[in-house]
Amino acid sequence: MQIKSRIRTIAHYPHEGIMFRDITTLLKDPVGLRTTIQEISNRYKTLKIDKVAGIESRGFIIGAPVAYELGLGFVPIRKKGKLPAETRGRDYQLEYGSDRIEIHLDAIQRGDRVLLIDDLIATGGTAEAAAALIQEMGGEVVECCFVIDLPDVGGRSRLEIQGFKVFALCEFA
Ligand code: PRP
Ligand code: ADE
Repeated sequence: MQIKSRIRTIAHYPHEGIMFRDITTLLKDPVGLRTTIQEISNRYKTLKIDKVAGIESRGFIIGAPVAYELGLGFVPIRKKGKLPAETRGRDYQLEYGSDRIEIHLDAIQRGDRVLLIDDLIATGGTAEAAAALIQEMGGEVVECCFVIDLPDVGGRSRLEIQGFKVFALCEFA
């Protein structure tokens, strides 16, 4: 089953010149969705992992079923102002401007081995901020896992230079 072939590309969305990799076509395909979740889960089922953390919003769609398959809990890393209890946050740069992600203070215990999941890595800014938050709380990031890597944008290298392990199911170069 080719996961990549089920991902649609929309040219010039949301800005002129951006090739938007749209996973909705993968998600609506029952075989595509199941294969995506199983391929990711299979990679991690023999590793010692305590929690799965997913990045809002598309990282939730992939991360929560992977946590379920692995028999683990799921931790949401959300955009600013969305989490109700006490949080720790981190600002990060987007292609245009900046944003902030947050995590609940009680989401990660010191020593937790955490699998970080998002749908896509581009510049790596979002994942870098999420991984840093997990580390600041005493967690260990076992790997940063994505459905899609855009290698030409450099996010994977950016994370790997900082010592994070990175895995993606497919690449769009
Ligand atoms: C997208 C994507 C990643 C991030 C990757 O999310 O889902 O989270 O961008 O970009 P980066 O590697 O350059 O940081 P977006 O911020 O568009 O939010 P969404 O998932 O809510 O659409
Ligand atoms: N997030 C950042 N860049 C993206 C792209 N090219 N396609 C989909 N989501 C993205």
